[in-house]
Amino acid sequence: MEYADREHVLSIRDLSITFKTGAGPVNAIRGVNIDLYKGETLAVVGESGSGKSVTFKAAMGILASNSIVNSGSITYTYHHNDGTTATVDLLKMKTKDIRRHINGKRIAMIFQDPMTSLDPTMPIGKQIMEGMIWHYKTPKKEAWAKAVRLLEEVGIDEPEKRMRQYPHQLSGGMRQRVVIAIALACDPDLLICDEPTTALDVTIQAKILELIKRVQAERGISVIYITHDLGVVAKVADFVNVMYAGKIVETGTIDEIFYDPRHPYTWGLLSAMPDLDTDDARLYTIPGSPPNLLHPVPGDAFAPRNSYALNIDERMEPPMFKVSDTHYAATWLLDERAPKVEMPKELRARIQRMMKEAN
Ligand SMILES: Nc1ncnc2c1ncn2[C@@H]1O[C@H](COP(=O)(O)OP(=O)(O)OP(=O)(O)O)[C@@H](O)[C@H]1O
Ligand SMILES: [Mg+2]
Repeated sequence: MEYADREHVLSIRDLSITFKTGAGPVNAIRGVNIDLYKGETLAVVGESGSGKSVTFKAAMGILASNSIVNSGSITYTYHHNDGTTATVDLLKMKTKDIRRHINGKRIAMIFQDPMTSLDPTMPIGKQIMEGMIWHYKTPKKEAWAKAVRLLEEVGIDEPEKRMRQYPHQLSGGMRQRVVIAIALACDPDLLICDEPTTALDVTIQAKILELIKRVQAERGISVIYITHDLGVVAKVADFVNVMYAGKIVETGTIDEIFYDPRHPYTWGLLSAMPDLDTDDARLYTIPGSPPNLLHPVPGDAFAPRNSYALNIDERMEPPMFKVSDTHYAATWLLDERAPKVEMPKELRARIQRMMKEAN
């Protein structure tokens, strides 16, 4: 693959965010770097509380009011209708301007629970038309026609009838399709999906993933998936960022992360992923729990849970070590002075099985 000619869409640099709480400041995001290129799909994975949602809420200008952005930039590059390009730092924009020019128009976000993003008191059609009318002053008739087409595009039957219905008259899977239609209404070039299928059953989940994939291919847009489900990641992503305690600890192509993982945390996540050959009862879980970010984290935040931890992990934070042009991992195990450590045998066997199945 040729990576040199890729066009940046989003570039997060050194992002650091603290929340003020009654117990003290929580250092939720501790120096995050993420790159997204045009037309590509990026997954961000990690356990609950690792900072996945907060990172992208920062990009959308929807952080909670007790947040403080300590440092960093989120540069977003887009094209105007006349073909010229613009690059903005979303962190420097006023919330009002993000709402007016970016949020829902150029970047759209889909959340886990469709009920939180749908208004129960408003017909579905009106909710799809809202953005077009607000961002583009689209005439009502035109917005209606486009909303009907969008409902068809996301696979909803009898779209004219559905336009007049309310969210509670639809099933969970249908509601999530409506949320996707709303997200697509203003032709965004970036879609951020935060656990878009977690609330749905497996069959419907697969259908929604297929739908997002198809829409992405047809429209050539970039997609970010936020999830703790590596099964979802395997189905959709080109690149993966593994997040732990407010940092990216490993980044690589989908093949690099699944077939050649280097961070012990990634080993743990992969080992904990259910597959056809493991029964749930024997499924591995990573021991312990993430650090409390109310307190400073000395050294490597994963060390207390890491059976491969080195002495240096307790004192010094590992830098991102380069494995390839696209693959980096923040673990001292990759330092040339480190003892040679291999991933667990069971995981190695499992990866070999996965590779065989993939071929
Ligand atoms: N408004 C807030 N006030 C205080 N702490 C917050 C606030 N919002 C988020 N946090 C903390 O920031 C950290 C990161 O939260 P975030 O929602 O990004 O996690 P996540 O990776 O998306 O987890 P999940 O998989 O459960 O959605 C957590 O420790 C969370 O408790
Ligand atoms: Mg989240």
